[in-house]
Amino acid sequence: MTQDEMKQAVAQAALDYVLPKLKADSVIGIGTGSTANCFIDALAAHKGAFESAVASSEASAERLRSHGIEVVDLNSVSGIEVYVDGADEFDPHLNLVKGGGGALTREKIVAAASKEFVCIVDQSKQVDVLGAFPLPVEVIPMARSYVARELAKLGVHPEYRQGFVTDNGNIILDVHDMEILNPKGLERELNDLVGVVTNGLFALRPADLVLMATPEGVETLTV
Ligand code: A5P
Repeated sequence: MTQDEMKQAVAQAALDYVLPKLKADSVIGIGTGSTANCFIDALAAHKGAFESAVASSEASAERLRSHGIEVVDLNSVSGIEVYVDGADEFDPHLNLVKGGGGALTREKIVAAASKEFVCIVDQSKQVDVLGAFPLPVEVIPMARSYVARELAKLGVHPEYRQGFVTDNGNIILDVHDMEILNPKGLERELNDLVGVVTNGLFALRPADLVLMATPEGVETLTV
């Protein structure tokens, strides 16, 4: 099974999981990335099963609209039934690193506003300890050098993501070569730096469920 086939299999498994939860007036949260794109494409055949979607990026919003799915602003809804999104890494506690595509802040907001967070991955994303994948930190542009110096003081290695601007008009510093033994503590510590919007650790609000594609089939992981 190719990695693309695994992404499609896990997207279908997510669809099978969420469809029974959706009602005609439900709002669904949609993530960003290649696995989330597979989910959007699979969801398109069921657009009568829910009311509308909140997207975690402009790219996902555009893809949803291209399928005729109504996309609404988070401020116009009272809550989201379920959020479906990918991840760059996940650990045994279902803590995640996200933001490889740079959508981490909106992803974290939509996850926070959702009753349930279903994370969809292939097995390449499974790790014992987070940190091999560079941790994205979204930063207000004028604070870029200051935050980079503060990160260096913490003993980590930030790298400016050249030529990239987030949907919120900010920049990304990717922090390399970490062994994240205390994900909640690090998530708070990085968010406390002035100028940081948020970072790509999802430990304070981890996934509720991970659906992981393997060549043998899709596994359901909970804590
Ligand atoms: C987007 O900013 C990310 O958080 C994605 O969810 C993550 O990078 C997973 O993307 P893929 O599904 O493309 O691997």
